[in-house]
Amino acid sequence: MDRCIYGCSAVSFFFLFILTASALPQTLEPGHHNITGSGQINSNSVLVALLDSRYTELAELVEKALLLQTLEDAVGRHNITIFAPRNEALERDLDPGFKRFLLQPGNLKSLQTLLLSHIIPTRVGSTQWPEESSKRVKHVTLGHGQVLHLSKTKGNVNRLVVNSAVITRPDDLTRPDGLIHGIERLLIPRSVQEDFNRRRNLRSISAVLPEGAPEIDPRTNRLKKSAAAAAAVPAGAPPVLPIQSAMAPGPSLAPAPAPGPGGPRHHFNGEAQVKDFIHTLLHYGGYNEMADILVNLTSLATEMGRLVSEGYVLTVLAPNDEAMAKLTTDQLSEPGAPEQIMYYHIIPEYQTEESMYNSVRRFGKVKYETLRFPHKVAAKEADGSVKFGSGDRSAYLFDPDIYTDGRISVQGIDGVLFPEEEEETVKKPSGSVKKVVQTRRGTFD
Ligand SMILES: *[C@@H]1O[C@H](CO)[C@@H](O)[C@H](O)[C@H]1NC(C)=O
Ligand SMILES: *[C@@H]1O[C@H](CO)[C@@H](O)[C@H](O)[C@H]1NC(C)=O
Ligand SMILES: *[C@@H]1O[C@H](CO)[C@@H](O)[C@H](O)[C@H]1NC(C)=O
Repeated sequence: MDRCIYGCSAVSFFFLFILTASALPQTLEPGHHNITGSGQINSNSVLVALLDSRYTELAELVEKALLLQTLEDAVGRHNITIFAPRNEALERDLDPGFKRFLLQPGNLKSLQTLLLSHIIPTRVGSTQWPEESSKRVKHVTLGHGQVLHLSKTKGNVNRLVVNSAVITRPDDLTRPDGLIHGIERLLIPRSVQEDFNRRRNLRSISAVLPEGAPEIDPRTNRLKKSAAAAAAVPAGAPPVLPIQSAMAPGPSLAPAPAPGPGGPRHHFNGEAQVKDFIHTLLHYGGYNEMADILVNLTSLATEMGRLVSEGYVLTVLAPNDEAMAKLTTDQLSEPGAPEQIMYYHIIPEYQTEESMYNSVRRFGKVKYETLRFPHKVAAKEADGSVKFGSGDRSAYLFDPDIYTDGRISVQGIDGVLFPEEEEETVKKPSGSVKKVVQTRRGTFD
Protein backbone atom coordinates (compact mmCIF):
# COMPACT_ATOMS: atom_id res chain seq x y z
CA MET A 1 0.00 0.00 0.00
CA ASP A 2 1.39 3.36 -0.89
CA ARG A 3 -0.13 4.89 2.21
CA CYS A 4 2.45 3.10 4.26
CA ILE A 5 5.05 5.71 3.55
CA TYR A 6 5.96 5.78 7.21
CA GLY A 7 6.26 2.05 7.36
CA CYS A 8 2.68 1.34 8.34
CA SER A 9 3.35 2.85 11.72
CA ALA A 10 0.80 3.50 14.37
CA VAL A 11 0.06 6.76 12.62
CA SER A 12 -1.06 5.06 9.45
CA PHE A 13 -3.16 2.76 11.51
CA PHE A 14 -4.64 5.77 13.19
CA PHE A 15 -5.71 7.31 9.94
CA LEU A 16 -7.03 4.12 8.54
CA PHE A 17 -9.07 3.87 11.66
CA ILE A 18 -10.42 7.37 11.31
CA LEU A 19 -11.12 6.79 7.66
CA THR A 20 -13.33 3.89 8.47
CA ALA A 21 -14.83 5.67 11.40
CA SER A 22 -15.68 8.92 9.69
CA ALA A 23 -16.11 7.62 6.15
CA LEU A 24 -14.38 10.56 4.56
CA PRO A 25 -11.78 8.87 2.42
CA GLN A 26 -11.65 11.68 -0.13
CA THR A 27 -10.16 14.11 2.39
CA LEU A 28 -7.01 12.11 2.86
CA GLU A 29 -4.24 12.72 0.42
CA PRO A 30 -1.49 10.19 0.37
CA GLY A 31 1.34 11.35 2.54
CA HIS A 32 -0.69 14.00 4.27
CA HIS A 33 -1.49 13.33 7.82
CA ASN A 34 -4.56 15.41 8.08
CA ILE A 35 -8.23 15.03 7.81
CA THR A 36 -10.65 17.86 7.57
CA GLY A 37 -14.31 17.70 8.32
CA SER A 38 -15.47 15.99 11.46
CA GLY A 39 -12.41 15.96 13.68
CA GLN A 40 -10.08 18.61 12.24
CA ILE A 41 -7.14 16.37 12.98
CA ASN A 42 -4.03 17.46 11.25
CA SER A 43 -0.44 16.40 11.36
CA ASN A 44 0.10 19.02 14.00
CA SER A 45 -2.28 17.41 16.44
CA VAL A 46 -1.13 16.26 19.83
CA LEU A 47 -2.78 12.92 19.07
CA VAL A 48 -0.57 12.39 16.06
CA ALA A 49 2.36 13.47 18.20
CA LEU A 50 1.42 10.85 20.77
CA LEU A 51 1.12 8.05 18.25
CA ASP A 52 4.49 8.95 16.79
CA SER A 53 6.20 9.58 20.12
CA ARG A 54 8.57 7.74 22.42
CA TYR A 55 5.50 6.68 24.43
CA THR A 56 4.84 3.69 22.22
CA GLU A 57 3.40 1.56 25.02
CA LEU A 58 0.81 4.18 25.87
CA ALA A 59 0.00 4.75 22.19
CA GLU A 60 -0.55 1.04 21.76
CA LEU A 61 -2.87 0.87 24.74
CA VAL A 62 -4.84 3.85 23.46
CA GLU A 63 -5.38 1.99 20.21
CA LYS A 64 -6.27 -1.23 21.97
CA ALA A 65 -8.75 0.66 24.11
CA LEU A 66 -10.47 1.95 20.93
CA LEU A 67 -10.11 5.48 22.22
CA LEU A 68 -8.85 7.27 19.13
CA GLN A 69 -12.30 8.44 18.07
CA THR A 70 -13.08 9.70 21.57
CA LEU A 71 -9.82 11.61 21.69
CA GLU A 72 -10.27 12.98 18.22
CA ASP A 73 -13.61 14.38 19.32
CA ALA A 74 -11.99 15.77 22.45
CA VAL A 75 -9.28 17.71 20.65
CA GLY A 76 -11.93 18.98 18.26
CA ARG A 77 -13.58 20.70 21.18
CA HIS A 78 -10.75 21.73 23.46
CA ASN A 79 -7.07 21.42 24.21
CA ILE A 80 -5.92 18.38 26.11
CA THR A 81 -3.02 17.61 28.42
CA ILE A 82 -1.74 14.04 28.35
CA PHE A 83 0.30 12.56 31.16
CA ALA A 84 2.23 9.86 29.37
CA PRO A 85 3.88 7.15 31.47
CA ARG A 86 7.30 6.20 30.16
CA ASN A 87 7.46 2.85 28.41
CA GLU A 88 9.21 1.11 31.30
CA ALA A 89 6.29 1.96 33.56
CA LEU A 90 4.00 -0.02 31.29
CA GLU A 91 6.40 -2.83 30.46
CA ARG A 92 8.75 -3.74 33.25
CA ASP A 93 7.12 -1.98 36.21
CA LEU A 94 3.58 -3.10 35.64
CA ASP A 95 2.30 -6.17 37.40
CA PRO A 96 1.76 -8.81 34.70
CA GLY A 97 -1.53 -9.87 36.27
CA PHE A 98 -2.79 -6.32 36.14
CA LYS A 99 -1.72 -5.90 32.55
CA ARG A 100 -3.46 -9.13 31.58
CA PHE A 101 -6.55 -7.87 33.32
CA LEU A 102 -6.44 -4.62 31.35
CA LEU A 103 -6.10 -6.36 28.03
CA GLN A 104 -8.97 -8.77 28.53
CA PRO A 105 -11.83 -7.73 26.25
CA GLY A 106 -14.30 -7.89 29.13
CA ASN A 107 -12.33 -5.21 30.96
CA LEU A 108 -12.30 -2.66 28.15
CA LYS A 109 -14.12 -0.13 30.35
CA SER A 110 -11.40 -0.37 33.00
CA LEU A 111 -8.69 0.14 30.40
CA GLN A 112 -10.52 3.12 28.96
CA THR A 113 -11.02 4.68 32.39
CA LEU A 114 -7.38 4.10 33.20
CA LEU A 115 -6.14 5.80 30.05
CA LEU A 116 -8.64 8.65 30.06
CA SER A 117 -7.62 9.36 33.66
CA HIS A 118 -4.26 10.43 32.26
CA ILE A 119 -5.83 13.17 30.16
CA ILE A 120 -7.10 16.57 31.27
CA PRO A 121 -9.45 18.44 28.92
CA THR A 122 -7.50 21.68 29.21
CA ARG A 123 -4.04 22.85 28.45
CA VAL A 124 -1.78 22.76 31.49
CA GLY A 125 1.80 23.63 30.67
CA SER A 126 4.62 23.25 33.14
CA THR A 127 4.37 26.94 33.98
CA GLN A 128 0.81 26.50 35.12
CA TRP A 129 1.60 24.31 38.11
CA PRO A 130 0.70 25.60 41.58
CA GLU A 131 3.42 27.98 42.73
CA GLU A 132 3.95 26.88 46.31
CA SER A 133 4.88 23.36 47.14
CA SER A 134 2.09 23.14 49.73
CA LYS A 135 -0.61 23.85 47.16
CA ARG A 136 -2.41 21.28 45.13
CA VAL A 137 -4.60 21.98 42.15
CA LYS A 138 -7.31 19.56 41.21
CA HIS A 139 -8.21 18.78 37.61
CA VAL A 140 -11.04 16.67 36.36
CA THR A 141 -9.86 14.18 33.74
CA LEU A 142 -11.63 12.60 30.79
CA GLY A 143 -11.80 9.41 32.86
CA HIS A 144 -15.21 8.99 34.36
CA GLY A 145 -15.22 10.97 37.62
CA GLN A 146 -11.47 10.72 38.06
CA VAL A 147 -9.43 13.71 39.16
CA LEU A 148 -5.73 14.46 39.21
CA HIS A 149 -3.89 16.67 41.66
CA LEU A 150 -1.00 18.78 40.46
CA SER A 151 1.61 19.80 43.00
CA LYS A 152 5.31 20.38 43.47
CA THR A 153 7.69 18.45 45.65
CA LYS A 154 8.98 20.20 48.72
CA GLY A 155 12.61 21.05 49.24
CA ASN A 156 15.15 22.79 47.10
CA VAL A 157 14.35 21.17 43.82
CA ASN A 158 10.69 21.71 43.06
CA ARG A 159 9.85 18.88 40.77
CA LEU A 160 6.43 18.80 39.23
CA VAL A 161 4.15 16.06 40.44
CA VAL A 162 0.81 14.70 39.32
CA ASN A 163 -0.85 12.71 42.08
CA SER A 164 2.31 11.07 43.33
CA ALA A 165 4.04 10.57 40.00
CA VAL A 166 6.94 12.82 39.18
CA ILE A 167 6.85 14.57 35.82
CA THR A 168 10.04 13.36 34.20
CA ARG A 169 9.64 15.26 30.94
CA PRO A 170 7.62 18.44 31.35
CA ASP A 171 6.18 19.80 28.08
CA ASP A 172 7.78 16.94 26.20
CA LEU A 173 5.63 17.50 23.13
CA THR A 174 3.60 20.63 22.63
CA ARG A 175 1.14 21.11 19.82
CA PRO A 176 -1.52 23.72 19.09
CA ASP A 177 -4.27 21.50 20.44
CA GLY A 178 -2.56 20.13 23.50
CA LEU A 179 0.60 18.87 25.09
CA ILE A 180 2.23 15.82 26.59
CA HIS A 181 4.12 15.55 29.85
CA GLY A 182 6.21 12.43 30.40
CA ILE A 183 5.62 10.86 33.82
CA GLU A 184 7.54 8.21 35.67
CA ARG A 185 4.72 5.77 36.22
CA LEU A 186 1.16 4.83 35.50
CA LEU A 187 -1.60 6.55 37.49
CA ILE A 188 -4.08 3.93 38.52
CA PRO A 189 -7.53 5.23 39.43
CA ARG A 190 -9.14 3.72 42.46
CA SER A 191 -12.13 2.41 40.53
CA VAL A 192 -9.86 0.48 38.18
CA GLN A 193 -7.83 -0.88 41.05
CA GLU A 194 -11.05 -1.97 42.70
CA ASP A 195 -12.29 -3.66 39.55
CA PHE A 196 -9.02 -5.54 39.44
CA ASN A 197 -9.14 -6.46 43.12
CA ARG A 198 -12.71 -7.63 42.82
CA ARG A 199 -11.90 -9.79 39.86
CA ARG A 200 -8.85 -11.22 41.53
CA ASN A 201 -10.53 -11.80 44.87
CA LEU A 202 -13.74 -13.25 43.60
CA ARG A 203 -12.67 -16.74 44.31
CA SER A 204 -11.11 -16.19 47.72
CA ILE A 205 -14.00 -14.05 48.92
CA SER A 206 -16.66 -16.51 47.90
CA ALA A 207 -14.67 -19.25 49.59
CA VAL A 208 -15.11 -17.64 52.99
CA LEU A 209 -18.47 -18.62 54.37
CA PRO A 210 -20.06 -16.20 56.78
CA GLU A 211 -20.37 -17.61 60.26
CA GLY A 212 -21.23 -16.29 63.67
CA ALA A 213 -18.62 -14.15 65.38
CA PRO A 214 -17.12 -15.81 68.44
CA GLU A 215 -18.28 -14.53 71.77
CA ILE A 216 -15.76 -13.55 74.38
CA ASP A 217 -16.10 -14.12 78.07
CA PRO A 218 -15.26 -10.67 79.47
CA ARG A 219 -13.92 -12.09 82.73
CA THR A 220 -11.29 -14.25 81.14
CA ASN A 221 -10.91 -12.44 77.83
CA ARG A 222 -11.20 -15.83 76.23
CA LEU A 223 -13.59 -17.24 73.78
CA LYS A 224 -16.70 -18.90 75.03
CA LYS A 225 -16.74 -22.37 73.68
CA SER A 226 -20.46 -22.84 73.60
CA ALA A 227 -21.72 -23.13 70.07
CA ALA A 228 -25.06 -21.69 71.15
CA ALA A 229 -23.38 -18.57 72.46
CA ALA A 230 -21.49 -18.19 69.21
CA ALA A 231 -24.66 -18.52 67.21
CA ALA A 232 -26.23 -15.62 69.12
CA VAL A 233 -23.85 -13.14 67.51
CA PRO A 234 -24.74 -12.36 63.93
CA ALA A 235 -22.22 -13.17 61.25
CA GLY A 236 -19.79 -10.37 60.56
CA ALA A 237 -20.64 -8.53 63.77
CA PRO A 238 -17.83 -6.41 65.17
CA PRO A 239 -15.63 -8.19 67.68
CA VAL A 240 -16.52 -8.03 71.33
CA LEU A 241 -13.12 -7.17 72.74
CA PRO A 242 -11.43 -3.82 72.20
CA ILE A 243 -8.65 -4.18 69.67
CA GLN A 244 -5.99 -3.63 72.34
CA SER A 245 -6.91 -6.90 73.97
CA ALA A 246 -6.86 -8.71 70.70
CA MET A 247 -3.39 -7.60 69.76
CA ALA A 248 -0.37 -9.71 70.32
CA PRO A 249 2.10 -8.33 72.87
CA GLY A 250 4.27 -5.65 71.32
CA PRO A 251 6.90 -6.76 68.87
CA SER A 252 9.61 -5.74 71.32
CA LEU A 253 8.27 -8.14 73.90
CA ALA A 254 7.86 -11.31 71.98
CA PRO A 255 8.98 -12.92 68.79
CA ALA A 256 6.49 -12.82 66.00
CA PRO A 257 4.05 -15.66 65.89
CA ALA A 258 4.78 -17.96 63.04
CA PRO A 259 2.67 -17.02 60.07
CA GLY A 260 0.21 -19.64 59.09
CA PRO A 261 -3.38 -20.21 58.30
CA GLY A 262 -5.57 -18.99 61.12
CA GLY A 263 -8.01 -21.06 63.06
CA PRO A 264 -11.08 -22.47 61.48
CA ARG A 265 -13.22 -19.66 62.84
CA HIS A 266 -12.11 -16.92 60.52
CA HIS A 267 -14.90 -14.76 59.23
CA PHE A 268 -12.74 -12.81 56.86
CA ASN A 269 -9.69 -13.81 54.99
CA GLY A 270 -7.55 -11.16 56.66
CA GLU A 271 -4.27 -12.47 55.40
CA ALA A 272 -5.42 -12.34 51.81
CA GLN A 273 -6.73 -8.83 52.36
CA VAL A 274 -3.44 -7.67 53.85
CA LYS A 275 -1.53 -9.23 50.99
CA ASP A 276 -3.91 -7.59 48.61
CA PHE A 277 -3.43 -4.12 50.03
CA ILE A 278 0.36 -4.46 50.12
CA HIS A 279 0.16 -5.52 46.51
CA THR A 280 -2.02 -2.53 45.77
CA LEU A 281 0.49 -0.22 47.43
CA LEU A 282 3.23 -1.63 45.23
CA HIS A 283 1.05 -1.19 42.20
CA TYR A 284 0.03 2.28 43.04
CA GLY A 285 3.64 3.36 42.99
CA GLY A 286 5.28 5.96 45.18
CA TYR A 287 4.76 3.77 48.26
CA ASN A 288 7.46 1.19 47.75
CA GLU A 289 9.23 1.90 51.04
CA MET A 290 6.08 1.37 53.04
CA ALA A 291 5.19 -1.75 51.09
CA ASP A 292 8.73 -3.01 51.60
CA ILE A 293 8.54 -2.57 55.34
CA LEU A 294 5.24 -4.39 55.44
CA VAL A 295 6.68 -7.21 53.39
CA ASN A 296 9.82 -7.37 55.53
CA LEU A 297 8.07 -7.05 58.86
CA THR A 298 6.17 -10.27 58.49
CA SER A 299 5.14 -10.07 62.14
CA LEU A 300 3.32 -6.81 61.50
CA ALA A 301 1.61 -8.05 58.36
CA THR A 302 0.65 -11.28 60.10
CA GLU A 303 -0.75 -9.37 63.03
CA MET A 304 -2.80 -7.14 60.74
CA GLY A 305 -4.09 -10.16 58.87
CA ARG A 306 -5.07 -11.84 62.10
CA LEU A 307 -6.92 -8.78 63.40
CA VAL A 308 -8.83 -8.41 60.15
CA SER A 309 -9.64 -12.11 60.17
CA GLU A 310 -11.11 -11.67 63.61
CA GLY A 311 -13.37 -8.92 62.42
CA TYR A 312 -11.41 -5.78 63.27
CA VAL A 313 -11.11 -3.00 60.75
CA LEU A 314 -8.02 -0.93 60.06
CA THR A 315 -7.07 2.31 58.37
CA VAL A 316 -3.43 2.59 57.34
CA LEU A 317 -1.92 6.03 56.88
CA ALA A 318 0.82 5.18 54.43
CA PRO A 319 3.68 7.68 54.15
CA ASN A 320 4.87 8.00 50.57
CA ASP A 321 8.43 7.27 49.48
CA GLU A 322 9.45 10.89 49.66
CA ALA A 323 8.39 11.05 53.30
CA MET A 324 10.06 7.76 54.15
CA ALA A 325 13.29 8.91 52.56
CA LYS A 326 13.50 11.66 55.16
CA LEU A 327 13.64 9.22 58.05
CA THR A 328 17.10 9.13 59.52
CA THR A 329 18.90 5.89 60.17
CA ASP A 330 18.77 6.78 63.86
CA GLN A 331 15.03 6.79 63.72
CA LEU A 332 14.98 3.36 62.14
CA SER A 333 17.90 1.58 63.73
CA GLU A 334 16.58 1.09 67.26
CA PRO A 335 15.20 -2.39 67.74
CA GLY A 336 11.50 -2.38 67.09
CA ALA A 337 11.55 1.18 65.77
CA PRO A 338 10.09 0.41 62.34
CA GLU A 339 7.27 -1.53 63.99
CA GLN A 340 6.58 1.32 66.38
CA ILE A 341 6.48 3.79 63.53
CA MET A 342 4.15 1.57 61.56
CA TYR A 343 1.83 0.90 64.50
CA TYR A 344 1.45 4.64 64.94
CA HIS A 345 0.18 4.82 61.37
CA ILE A 346 -2.57 2.29 61.83
CA ILE A 347 -5.97 3.41 63.09
CA PRO A 348 -8.30 0.71 64.43
CA GLU A 349 -11.26 2.17 62.57
CA TYR A 350 -12.43 2.02 59.01
CA GLN A 351 -12.07 5.51 57.62
CA THR A 352 -12.10 6.76 54.08
CA GLU A 353 -10.98 10.13 52.80
CA GLU A 354 -14.57 11.23 52.74
CA SER A 355 -15.36 10.13 56.28
CA MET A 356 -12.23 11.73 57.69
CA TYR A 357 -12.69 14.92 55.76
CA ASN A 358 -16.29 15.14 56.90
CA SER A 359 -15.34 14.70 60.54
CA VAL A 360 -12.58 17.28 60.51
CA ARG A 361 -14.88 19.68 58.71
CA ARG A 362 -17.52 19.12 61.30
CA PHE A 363 -15.52 18.87 64.50
CA GLY A 364 -12.44 20.92 63.66
CA LYS A 365 -9.98 18.60 65.30
CA VAL A 366 -10.34 14.85 65.62
CA LYS A 367 -8.13 12.37 67.43
CA TYR A 368 -7.87 8.83 66.19
CA GLU A 369 -6.64 5.92 68.24
CA THR A 370 -3.64 4.14 66.81
CA LEU A 371 -2.32 0.66 67.33
CA ARG A 372 0.55 2.25 69.20
CA PHE A 373 -1.35 2.53 72.43
CA PRO A 374 -2.05 4.86 74.04
CA HIS A 375 -0.88 7.34 71.45
CA LYS A 376 -3.41 9.03 69.27
CA VAL A 377 -3.01 10.88 66.04
CA ALA A 378 -4.63 14.26 65.61
CA ALA A 379 -6.34 15.31 62.41
CA LYS A 380 -7.70 18.64 61.30
CA GLU A 381 -8.84 20.32 58.16
CA ALA A 382 -6.24 22.27 56.22
CA ASP A 383 -6.15 23.50 52.64
CA GLY A 384 -9.21 21.53 51.70
CA SER A 385 -7.63 18.32 52.84
CA VAL A 386 -7.01 16.41 56.05
CA LYS A 387 -3.83 17.20 57.94
CA PHE A 388 -2.50 14.74 60.49
CA GLY A 389 -0.18 15.43 63.39
CA SER A 390 1.03 18.90 64.25
CA GLY A 391 3.87 21.27 63.56
CA ASP A 392 6.86 19.88 61.74
CA ARG A 393 5.62 16.38 62.11
CA SER A 394 2.47 16.80 60.17
CA ALA A 395 1.33 15.19 56.98
CA TYR A 396 -1.39 15.82 54.49
CA LEU A 397 -3.71 13.22 53.13
CA PHE A 398 -2.08 13.04 49.74
CA ASP A 399 -3.39 10.03 47.85
CA PRO A 400 -6.88 9.33 49.10
CA ASP A 401 -8.38 5.85 49.22
CA ILE A 402 -5.50 3.95 47.66
CA TYR A 403 -7.15 0.80 48.88
CA THR A 404 -10.58 0.37 50.42
CA ASP A 405 -12.17 -3.01 50.74
CA GLY A 406 -14.56 -2.40 53.59
CA ARG A 407 -12.19 -3.71 56.27
CA ILE A 408 -8.83 -2.22 55.38
CA SER A 409 -8.46 1.30 54.14
CA VAL A 410 -5.17 2.76 52.97
CA GLN A 411 -4.66 6.50 52.73
CA GLY A 412 -1.46 7.96 51.31
CA ILE A 413 0.11 10.76 53.34
CA ASP A 414 3.11 12.96 52.59
CA GLY A 415 4.92 12.74 55.92
CA VAL A 416 5.90 10.30 58.63
CA LEU A 417 4.05 10.87 61.88
CA PHE A 418 5.38 10.60 65.41
CA PRO A 419 3.51 10.78 68.70
CA GLU A 420 3.85 14.10 70.46
CA GLU A 421 6.73 14.08 72.89
CA GLU A 422 4.92 15.37 75.94
CA GLU A 423 2.06 13.14 76.90
CA GLU A 424 -1.11 14.99 77.46
CA THR A 425 -1.92 15.18 81.13
CA VAL A 426 -5.58 15.90 80.62
CA LYS A 427 -7.13 12.50 80.42
CA LYS A 428 -10.62 12.09 79.21
CA PRO A 429 -12.53 9.02 80.30
CA SER A 430 -12.87 7.46 76.92
CA GLY A 431 -15.21 4.58 77.37
CA SER A 432 -14.15 1.48 79.19
CA VAL A 433 -11.16 0.82 76.99
CA LYS A 434 -8.29 -0.47 79.09
CA LYS A 435 -4.86 -1.41 78.05
CA VAL A 436 -4.61 -5.10 78.60
CA VAL A 437 -1.48 -7.01 77.90
CA GLN A 438 -2.32 -10.62 77.56
CA THR A 439 -1.52 -13.64 75.55
CA ARG A 440 -2.64 -13.91 71.99
CA ARG A 441 -6.21 -14.70 71.56
CA GLY A 442 -5.43 -16.88 68.60
CA THR A 443 -4.04 -19.62 70.80
CA PHE A 444 -7.30 -20.86 72.25
CA ASP A 445 -8.77 -24.01 70.96
C1 LIG B 1 -3.32 19.33 5.33
O1 LIG B 1 -2.62 20.26 6.12
C2 LIG B 1 -1.86 21.18 5.36
C3 LIG B 1 -1.12 22.06 6.32
O2 LIG B 1 -0.94 21.44 7.54
C4 LIG B 1 -2.78 21.98 4.44
O3 LIG B 1 -2.01 22.87 3.63
C5 LIG B 1 -3.56 21.06 3.56
O4 LIG B 1 -4.50 21.79 2.80
C6 LIG B 1 -4.29 20.03 4.39
N1 LIG B 1 -4.94 19.07 3.55
C7 LIG B 1 -6.21 18.83 3.61
C8 LIG B 1 -6.72 17.79 2.70
O5 LIG B 1 -6.94 19.38 4.42
C1 LIG C 1 -5.87 25.44 22.38
O1 LIG C 1 -4.93 26.30 23.01
C2 LIG C 1 -4.41 27.29 22.15
C3 LIG C 1 -3.34 28.04 22.89
O2 LIG C 1 -3.73 28.31 24.22
C4 LIG C 1 -5.55 28.20 21.66
O3 LIG C 1 -5.04 29.16 20.77
C5 LIG C 1 -6.58 27.34 20.94
O4 LIG C 1 -7.69 28.11 20.55
C6 LIG C 1 -7.05 26.21 21.83
N1 LIG C 1 -7.91 25.32 21.05
C7 LIG C 1 -9.14 24.99 21.41
C8 LIG C 1 -9.88 24.06 20.52
O5 LIG C 1 -9.65 25.43 22.42
C1 LIG D 1 13.51 -5.44 53.01
O1 LIG D 1 14.31 -6.58 52.78
C2 LIG D 1 15.08 -6.51 51.61
C3 LIG D 1 15.79 -7.83 51.41
O2 LIG D 1 16.19 -8.38 52.62
C4 LIG D 1 16.08 -5.35 51.72
O3 LIG D 1 16.85 -5.23 50.56
C5 LIG D 1 15.30 -4.06 51.94
O4 LIG D 1 16.19 -2.99 52.15
C6 LIG D 1 14.37 -4.19 53.14
N1 LIG D 1 13.56 -2.99 53.20
C7 LIG D 1 13.34 -2.34 54.33
C8 LIG D 1 12.54 -1.11 54.21
O5 LIG D 1 13.76 -2.71 55.40
